[in-house]
Amino acid sequence: VREDYDEVSSYIANYIKERINQFKPTSERPFVLGLPTGSSPVGVYKRMVEIYKAGNLSFKHVVTFNMDEYVGLPRDHPESYHSFMWKNLFMHVDIKPENVHILNGNAPDLDEECKQFEADIDSVGGIELFLGGIGPDGHIAFNEPGSSLTSRTRVKTLAYETIIANARFFDGDISKVPKLALTVGVATVMDAREVVVIITGAHKAIALAKCIEEGVNHMWTVSAIQLHPKGLIVCDEDSTLEL
Ligand code: GLP
Repeated sequence: VREDYDEVSSYIANYIKERINQFKPTSERPFVLGLPTGSSPVGVYKRMVEIYKAGNLSFKHVVTFNMDEYVGLPRDHPESYHSFMWKNLFMHVDIKPENVHILNGNAPDLDEECKQFEADIDSVGGIELFLGGIGPDGHIAFNEPGSSLTSRTRVKTLAYETIIANARFFDGDISKVPKLALTVGVATVMDAREVVVIITGAHKAIALAKCIEEGVNHMWTVSAIQLHPKGLIVCDEDSTLEL
């Protein structure tokens, strides 16, 4: 538990920097990092860019896989997760564009796109560290309540609560929020050798309590982290109100 959003962001950015530097990645043995979008990781990315600019971190041998992407939103739409990632992180660091993997929500065959994404993760030896955020309903990536804990990358219909929550990015207009997304599954995240989850704000307090103080269950999908051998939740004081 850290005091506030900034402290949480700095802690996680430093944590990831340490992991990457300890790993000593090379082109033959890159560090494979899973990444989220949303407002939760913005501070982490900002801090990572600062660490990169100070010369203490390189993304030259880092391969990334993003958690999710909306279906049907043009790639260059300001709210696509593709745009988000380039704007907040990738364009500021030395990552090689060919090492960035973001699901294509406009692929002609969405099922095939999801299958290929899983195959791409396997082909680099799996994910070393998956960073995630959660929705107020405890979803990780877009694994909405009721998602199987053994789920893999697939097309998912967004829960009404998620559409409402994300309307703030679409002029507050729920009709503009895509209703479908491609998302890694709960099992895709939990297969990573390490999982780190950011939880901040009083609006996520119930989710945090459900996820760590109740049993593992598919209605609060991030609760699967309880079974992970190396799972870490970094949260702020506000989000601990229900603990
Ligand atoms: C979306 C994303 C999730 C993210 C969640 C929370 O649903 N698919 O990956 O964790 O939003 O967003 P925020 O961090 O803005 O609260």
